[in-house]
Amino acid sequence: MSHEDPEGATPFNSDGLILANIETLEQLFIAEARNISKATLKYLATAPSKRVAPFTREWAYRLHKEMFGEVWAWAGKRRTTQTNIGAPPHEIDSRLKDLFDDLTEWQKHNTYPLLEQAARLHHRAVHIHPFNNGNGRWARLLANILMKRFGSVPVAWLEADITKQSAARAEYLSAIRAADTQDYALLIKLHQRYLK
Ligand SMILES: Nc1ncnc2c1ncn2[C@@H]1O[C@H](COP(=O)(O)OP(=O)(O)O)[C@@H](O)[C@H]1O
Ligand SMILES: [Mg+2]
Repeated sequence: MSHEDPEGATPFNSDGLILANIETLEQLFIAEARNISKATLKYLATAPSKRVAPFTREWAYRLHKEMFGEVWAWAGKRRTTQTNIGAPPHEIDSRLKDLFDDLTEWQKHNTYPLLEQAARLHHRAVHIHPFNNGNGRWARLLANILMKRFGSVPVAWLEADITKQSAARAEYLSAIRAADTQDYALLIKLHQRYLK
């Protein structure tokens, strides 16, 4: 199930749904947003320290749990089935480790400016697609925590638009798809445009 499904009585896959009184995608989206806002506050209200946001794989899993753990039992746990986007389940762990190792290197050697590090982190995280759902929202927050941790304002994604069918989503997805071919220019530009 995904949020671009038409809203209303559309049935969605409720396996692992913790909250009992959710019947529509709209209600689900609101419950998730409420959960996510707590994580957003924790990490973006003030610049997080290295202790709070260590940028390790284990912490990245934890972040997903903090964002979705009140709604989904599988929050913070990597998926066990193949999705059309994303690494094979048995590669998720190692691919995430590579990503955070690369991030450490980028920082050590100043390989890319912070905004480009954030765009690359965002894309590679969402490309690995570790979870059943929430990968986009998780990867965007991950990148924003990086921005905030190292002294930048976060990117003010139009989350409400990006998670449903809209011009903003179409533009976002074409930037993500360009990054699939190693062309990061569009995604970097998009990050730049929405800087608060
Ligand atoms: N071709 C692609 N390559 C990499 N990531 C993609 C691609 N297409 C979509 N995505 C990412 O997957 C996300 C959707 O995954 P999903 O787990 O449903 O996240 P969410 O529930 O937060 O929207 C999109 O927001 C986008 O970031
Ligand atoms: Mg989704």
